[in-house]
Amino acid sequence: MPKIIALFNQAGGTGKTTLAMNLGYALAQRGHNVLLIDMDPQSSLTVFMGLQPYALEGTISESVLEQSPLPFLREIHQMDLVPSNLTLSAADVRLAIAIAKETRLKKSLAPVEQNYNFVLIDCPLTLGCLAFFR
Ligand SMILES: Nc1ncnc2c1ncn2[C@@H]1O[C@H](COP(=O)(O)OP(=O)(O)OP(=O)(O)O)[C@@H](O)[C@H]1O
Ligand SMILES: [Mg+2]
Repeated sequence: MPKIIALFNQAGGTGKTTLAMNLGYALAQRGHNVLLIDMDPQSSLTVFMGLQPYALEGTISESVLEQSPLPFLREIHQMDLVPSNLTLSAADVRLAIAIAKETRLKKSLAPVEQNYNFVLIDCPLTLGCLAFFR
């Protein structure tokens, strides 16, 4: 089973994304299989990893909104990435009254988590519903 680590702080600009990326890279350098999950509609992690958020076919949004399989981008700087873009901001509104919304990420992750030693989740600077997904 992987270690799943959420990088969270409700304050903005406190190094969450920077730590997610660099911790992931350091772990990958040591031979661990690392999955990065961008749970922030700002998609900073997706951008830091060199991707254009608006050009992506699949993002974390579909997984949490529709419970579809996680979209992986493989082997980016030796890590796998589940990217995000601004469409994730709809989750707060659309899932406001959904039952067990906080378990949606956990359910999406369950079929694939055994492939990784570490899963690092870059969280948004919010105490809204996205912050409570696990
Ligand atoms: N250890 C550090 N020393 C100096 N600057 C840093 C450090 N870590 C991050 N920064 C810088 O601080 C800024 C904010 O970092 P980052 O985007 O990682 O924060 P964040 O908490 O993810 O922000 P947000 O809340 O917007 O998601 C960036 O410009 C980043 O380069
Ligand atoms: Mg960030």
